[in-house]
Amino acid sequence: MADVERPGAQAWVPQRPSLRSLRAAVQECRGCELWADATHGVMGRGPRAARVLLLGEQPGDREDREGEPFVGPAGAVLDRALAEAGIDPGDTFRTNVVKHFRWRGTRGKQRIHRGPSRVHVAACGPWLVAELAVVRPVGVVLLGGTAGTSLYGTSFRVGESRGRVLDWPTSFETARPPEWVVPTAHPSAVLRADDRDAARAALVADLRVAADLLGGSG
Ligand code: URA
Ligand code: SF4
Repeated sequence: MADVERPGAQAWVPQRPSLRSLRAAVQECRGCELWADATHGVMGRGPRAARVLLLGEQPGDREDREGEPFVGPAGAVLDRALAEAGIDPGDTFRTNVVKHFRWRGTRGKQRIHRGPSRVHVAACGPWLVAELAVVRPVGVVLLGGTAGTSLYGTSFRVGESRGRVLDWPTSFETARPPEWVVPTAHPSAVLRADDRDAARAALVADLRVAADLLGGSG
């Protein structure tokens, strides 16, 4: 992979982005090689006024086909957990660290997810920077390890940090830094857990921490 070109996404990010222009622009991105095997670039979805940004890893099979984040099985887990935690879905902006689906091989009709590497996270970062600048969320919920390491570096461990209230990392510059960050597990981990009910309850408990920070009903 030494000869793979990864100039990073910056050159494709509009100068004064809006959510609409970002969605169009990401389709043209050649910041790394992941666009080539994907159907859509998947930007975040939600109102610009959303107070909480939910940060996942990368689009999955369904998200890639539809061009929308969290429309597959993990999204269904997330929707239900948000409702149980009392977070208004209309107050959330859902996005991913990496905007194109990385996969290898198939299982039936489904392509098999392969998590992004650090090089892809780094290449794709300018899109998240732009989304943060447009949405300016009050808080960020990190869904899983990739989201965590993208902000806090490779020493981040979801197991140690989940459900805690963290400060926005000073190393990540943004015009109006979020006031808090709450990490939790990735919703797809609920689907893989031996004890799904316990995993679901733990996800809800972490989201309640965010709900309390938002002031109860949101
Ligand atoms: N998993 C993610 O991390 N993001 C999505 O959008 C869907 C599944
Ligand atoms: Fe661009 Fe990110 Fe897609 Fe790579 S994964 S091509 S950096 S949008």
